Amino acid sequence: MYFYKASGNRQQATGHQGIKFRSPDTRRLSPLNYMQQMLKDVYIETYGCQMNVADSEVVMSILADNGFKLTHNIDEAGLILINTCSIRENAEQRIWGRLKAIKHLKRKNKEIIIGLIGCMAERLKKRVLETDQLVDIVVGPDAYRELPKLVAEAESGHKAINVLLSREETYADISPVRMDKNGVSSFVSIMRGCNNMCAYCVVPYVRGAERSRDPESILKEVKELFNSGYREVTLLGQNVDSYKWNSDDNVLTFAVLLEIVAQVNPLLRVRFSTSHPKDISDDLLKTISRYNNICKHIHLPAQSGSSRILKLMNREYTREWYMGRINAIRSIIPDCALSTDMISGFCTETDEDHQASLSLMEWAGFDFAYMFKYSERPGTRAARKYKDDIPDEIKTKRLNEIISLQNKLSAISKRQDVGKVFEVLIEGPSKRSPDYFSGRTSQNKVVVFPGKGRKKGEYITVYIERCTSATLIGKILE
Ligand code: 5AD
Ligand code: SF4
Repeated sequence: MYFYKASGNRQQATGHQGIKFRSPDTRRLSPLNYMQQMLKDVYIETYGCQMNVADSEVVMSILADNGFKLTHNIDEAGLILINTCSIRENAEQRIWGRLKAIKHLKRKNKEIIIGLIGCMAERLKKRVLETDQLVDIVVGPDAYRELPKLVAEAESGHKAINVLLSREETYADISPVRMDKNGVSSFVSIMRGCNNMCAYCVVPYVRGAERSRDPESILKEVKELFNSGYREVTLLGQNVDSYKWNSDDNVLTFAVLLEIVAQVNPLLRVRFSTSHPKDISDDLLKTISRYNNICKHIHLPAQSGSSRILKLMNREYTREWYMGRINAIRSIIPDCALSTDMISGFCTETDEDHQASLSLMEWAGFDFAYMFKYSERPGTRAARKYKDDIPDEIKTKRLNEIISLQNKLSAISKRQDVGKVFEVLIEGPSKRSPDYFSGRTSQNKVVVFPGKGRKKGEYITVYIERCTSATLIGKILE
């Protein structure tokens, strides 16, 4: 589903995101009013996965209802929130570095309140308040409704913390304040938490048990998005295939939810992330194939190509099972793009296991992949039971091999699109030139094309003429 990527892939949080919103003209206020006004100006930086991006929008909505305004200028903010990620050690290191970098703001103005929210808040709890003088409030992912109260406590000079996890909280009734820049595509959270116990993963510990969101509230949010001009939603959950809503003896599955969201309007594209290979059903694949507006792209993290490592990871499938699911996708949705997550250097991984990962990737011909070095997370099953015994140089060497193979596969995947015609949803002008526009195919590939006079949110038909390593380049067919 996830993670930092400097390239600005819309599907990911790109490091930190200063959030844009018009802030008041503070220059004309008296010093006292200025301070009061500043306290109400909030700046949010978001790290980590798409779920965190969606959460920051919920946080902003809660704060806006309590008189706070968003600012994109950190120097103007009275409240600075860092929405954090714990998935790998380097994600946390990056946030410690960021905290250090904003220390000077607090030195300049002691009234500023700094809050650490999200997964790291959950993992490190009190330690953050005790060891870092800079942080005033610490709020876990299920306690955002308490934020206004906790900020008020911090304003009165007390450090404030709430990291309680909940079995029910889904923020279903909250209309997120949209902070994405393009106004065309948006995330919609459909569930929270995770019940899978992948041995390497910290998510169940920092985000708690899995709970699904009321489908009515999901539909309401999707309709509001469509009515305000959005043309693409991505339904988010740690494992969307286990979405489940019980009502009147009926169980609403993810396949049904996806179908009713797709029925909101044929002009609304629907994506989803993340699927789990052990749970993705033929029913779901058939639903995807039936609706033109359900995008033909599935992110199906394999993690490893070795059945022995998959067992140690507690992924609950084998290499053969994974291949079976890919075969089902290929036969039910022939034009479906596939992406994966891969981890190099998990505990005890041999060269043979690593070769199995490479051969699985080659066999599947993934269009895209997120690739990571294994990072031991305290408290996880792997940290408790296995030794992190693969030397860093070997993890790096294997990761580099995985990356260079994926570069080759991604290039093949793009080259195969040259000469074909795709329906593209326009996202806006391209970075390269104002006469060029950029959009995506249903398969989630970026297409750039000359598009004078075109508007974002429009669908067009594009003939692909050539490609670079990252982009398809084409022309509009009238
Ligand atoms: N080390 C490395 N990668 C990890 N991921 C999750 N936990 C870890 C870890 N401890 C990767 C997995 C997952 C993605 C979200 O992050 O590939 O699918
Ligand atoms: Fe998202 Fe997981 Fe990182 Fe939390 S730890 S921000 S759930 S990726």
